[in-house]
Amino acid sequence: MNIEKLFEQNKIWAEQIEHEHPGFFEELSKQQNPKFLWIGCSDSRVPANQIVNLKPGEVFVHRNIANQVLSNDFNCMSVVQFAIEVLEVEDIIVCGHYGCGGVNAALTRNAHGLVDYWIWNIRNIKNKYSDFFNSLNKSETADKLCELNVIEQVHNLANTKPLKEAWNNKKNINIHGFIYGLNNGLLKNLNTTVSSEKDTEKIYQESLGKLI
Ligand code: CO
Repeated sequence: MNIEKLFEQNKIWAEQIEHEHPGFFEELSKQQNPKFLWIGCSDSRVPANQIVNLKPGEVFVHRNIANQVLSNDFNCMSVVQFAIEVLEVEDIIVCGHYGCGGVNAALTRNAHGLVDYWIWNIRNIKNKYSDFFNSLNKSETADKLCELNVIEQVHNLANTKPLKEAWNNKKNINIHGFIYGLNNGLLKNLNTTVSSEKDTEKIYQESLGKLI
């Protein structure tokens, strides 16, 4: 596979879509009207719209290593604000996945260079619940930290300015936490959906209670 090949494949793909759905690109170019904001991992095996079988244009996407939602990340916060204020998305999905390289990196003491700054937050999650993790074996630890990371990011998101403002303005916005299995292609709902500022802490504590 080389770069030239990508252009050939792009042409084939565009022709195929146009053949199957005449006018597809013409229609898509006129408006972007996604119902969902997806915050997921950059991992190439977790392509956002594909795994929920949605077309391009149906899901607004932000991805980074280990699907982090950090209030000092202007990139993520701008995406969230745009999705809420301009696209008027009502459902935000934070989607993690088992076998996440970012989460696994946080579980080792090895130095990874710059990325260590990024996964610092995941190491903190592990440390926060160290008693719980001490009772688990290596693979259970990795799986549970992937799940816990999603719950923490949903909670982080619920506490950001764009969400607080939106809820304050009576906007209907739900933040969901999902996790995806690389080995079976299936999504699991972690049932940590937050729909208002006042329920944020309650749902967070309930979700933690179910998990640890
Ligand atoms: Co990942």
